[in-house]
Amino acid sequence: MTIQDHLNHAKRVAEQAHAPYSNFYVGCVVKTKAGNTYHGCNVENISYGLTICAERVAIGTAVAAEGSSMRLDHVYVAMAHEKEGSPCGACRQVIAEFGADAHVHFIQKGKVVSVSVADLLPYAFETLA
Ligand code: THU
Repeated sequence: MTIQDHLNHAKRVAEQAHAPYSNFYVGCVVKTKAGNTYHGCNVENISYGLTICAERVAIGTAVAAEGSSMRLDHVYVAMAHEKEGSPCGACRQVIAEFGADAHVHFIQKGKVVSVSVADLLPYAFETLA
């Protein structure tokens, strides 16, 4: 499967989103180091701050299936209607938690962008412990 195949999959997942407040439908497909694929869409709430992003739904699903040792290899993010968009800052930190050396793919200015987590979130939060 190509990067575009996975982005197309993420776009189909985005159509499942519960996004009646923003009308911004996001889908995420993650491929784990174990070789499995999971997906998620954004789930909004009438209390807006309770909204969960597509990336965090997908990553939570992967953890539920594989456990705490789950590690991300690839993260694909796509929107159902808008042509482009990239993971928000909060999701970048969550991606970093499970995929310090993962690759993240999304569309910007009409082109597929593939970046490392280090490039997506330089100076990610870490404790000294
Ligand atoms: N959203 C995501 O699902 N992922 C992101 O990385 C950015 C934002 C969702 C949250 C909200 O439902 C909608 O997009 C508009 O912000």
